[in-house]
Amino acid sequence: MILQGENVLKQYHHNGGLINALNNVSFKVNKGDFVTVTGPSGSGKSTLLLSIFGLIRLTSGTIIFDGKRIDNISDRKLTDVRKKSVGYILQSFALVPYLTTIQNVMIPLALEKIPKKEQYKRAAAILDYVGLSDRMEHLPRELSAGQQQRVAIARSIVHRPQIIMADEPTGNLDPSLSLEILDFLKKINRDNKITIMMVTHSPVAAEYGTLKLHLNEGKIVESSKVKLYSPELLNN
Ligand SMILES: Nc1ncnc2c1ncn2[C@@H]1O[C@H](COP(=O)(O)OP(=O)(O)OP(=O)(O)O)[C@@H](O)[C@H]1O
Ligand SMILES: [Mg+2]
Repeated sequence: MILQGENVLKQYHHNGGLINALNNVSFKVNKGDFVTVTGPSGSGKSTLLLSIFGLIRLTSGTIIFDGKRIDNISDRKLTDVRKKSVGYILQSFALVPYLTTIQNVMIPLALEKIPKKEQYKRAAAILDYVGLSDRMEHLPRELSAGQQQRVAIARSIVHRPQIIMADEPTGNLDPSLSLEILDFLKKINRDNKITIMMVTHSPVAAEYGTLKLHLNEGKIVESSKVKLYSPELLNN
């Protein structure tokens, strides 16, 4: 098991009342799972995604990642866990507009203080993997939406994280580009055994899940596991 949540509670104070954005949620994720998180607007999907690695602090509950509790550690230690082990992909791509493709992809490596030359080499290799070797010197605004999202994906995997957290990664893309990006995430998941947790509104995207969590009013109301394909089948 790579990730476990136990009785995860997140309350927001609002207008003198309390909102249970996550209401005692528990879940278990195995290494290599492709987790999809669905549910109506306001059901707590983004709160779940952002609270697991502490971008939002929980009200109570336990999160265990890679065998260690991370819900009760300092902000500094949490930042270290995120830098080393987590990649984030957001709906809005969140690329730095004045940096080129390769510079954007080098950011996580710069944060880890990896030497510049090595940063460049690794970022270039990942850009090759996502099929953007010929766009390394472009600025984000000079790329198509699908290309921008592939840059964002490259940036989320360049530091070889154990887990990718994606909030509506295809929300801003048309259906055919969405499929391209989803297939790509599946490939990353299979090639590198990187665990993925993806929030989505789309039933098509949810079909990519090997573990499907459905939220309603801050609770997991459905959780289903799909058997992983055997390697022999993958080659066909
Ligand atoms: N900072 C906040 N203060 C108060 N309430 C909040 C805050 N952030 C989120 N909420 C509430 O918590 C609940 C869950 O919000 P969340 O953003 O997790 O929903 P979601 O499932 O991601 O929705 P969507 O599909 O629209 O993105 C909602 O009722 C929302 O109004
Ligand atoms: Mg959301």
